[in-house]
Amino acid sequence: MTTEPPQDAQPSVDELRAEHEQRAFIDRRLAEMFAPEDEAQRAALAALDANSMPHISISPVEGRLLQVLAAACGAKKILEIGALSGYSGIWLARALPKGGRLISLEVSEKHARVARESLVRARLGDRAEVRVGPAEVSLGTLVTEAPFDLIFIDADKPGYPTYLDWALRLTRPGSIIVADNTVRGGGVLADPLPEGATPDTRALAEYNRRVANDPHLLAVALPIDEGGTDGFTIAVVLESFAGAPSAETQA
Ligand code: SAH
Ligand code: DHB
Ligand code: MG
Repeated sequence: MTTEPPQDAQPSVDELRAEHEQRAFIDRRLAEMFAPEDEAQRAALAALDANSMPHISISPVEGRLLQVLAAACGAKKILEIGALSGYSGIWLARALPKGGRLISLEVSEKHARVARESLVRARLGDRAEVRVGPAEVSLGTLVTEAPFDLIFIDADKPGYPTYLDWALRLTRPGSIIVADNTVRGGGVLADPLPEGATPDTRALAEYNRRVANDPHLLAVALPIDEGGTDGFTIAVVLESFAGAPSAETQA
C-alpha cells in the first residue's frame, strides 16, 4: 500500500503558490546576479511612461543574453529592428568593442527620438544610431553596410518572415540572428494552427518553422521571459551544415 497520490491528481493551491514563489525567486536572483541595471537603463525604461509608450522592452536577462551572444560571435556590427525607447539598444551597444556600430531601425519618429536620447544618455551616441522608417524599406538600403555579425528582430510581428529573408541576406557564416516574442504563450507553437489564428501568430509560427528547418541555420527557441511563457529564437548562420546532404552526395 502506497501513500503516493494518483498520477492525475491536481496540484493543490499551496503547491501552485510554492511553485510560483520559487519561479519568482529564481527570476529575481538571476536578474540581480547576471543583469543588474544601471541609471541609463532605468532612464530608458522611465522614458516609456514619460512618452506614453508601451512597456514591451526586453527583460534584463534577455539583454544580458544578447550581450553574451554578441561577445560569442565577436560582433562589431549589430543591426536591431525595433528600437522603442532604446533599452535593448543600450544592452547591444555596450557589447560592442571600440569602433563597433549599432544600427537600430524604428518606424516611429517619436520612438526614434526617445531611443536616441536614451543612447546618448548612456554615452553610446558615438557608436549607436537610430534610422527612422519602416524596416521593410530601410533593410534594402543596408546591403552596402553588411554583413552584420548579430541581428536582433523585435518589431511588428507580421513582418518577421520578411525580416528573416533580409537577415539571411545581411549576415555571414558565424553571424547570429535573434528574434523576440517567438514563444508568445505557446499559441504560436500549435501544429496545426487553429483556423482563427491571428496574423501575428501565423507570422511568428512561420518564423520559427523556417528557422528550425533551414539547413543554413542552427537554431533553438528558449522560453526565458514572463515566467517562461515568451522568449527568443536564436539562430547561428552556418558555413555548411553537417546534417544536410553535400553537393557531391546529392548528385
Ligand atoms: N527592442 C525594444 C522593443 C521594441 S518594441 C526594446 O527591447 O527596448 C517594437 C518597436 O518596433 C516599436 O518601437 C515599434 O514602433 C517598432 N516597429 C513596429 N513596426 C515597425 C516597422 N515596420 N519598422 C520598424 N520598426 C517598427
Ligand atoms: C509585446 C511584447 C513585445 O516584446 C513586443 O515586441 C511587441 C508586443 C506585447 O506584449 O504586446
Ligand atoms: Mg519584443
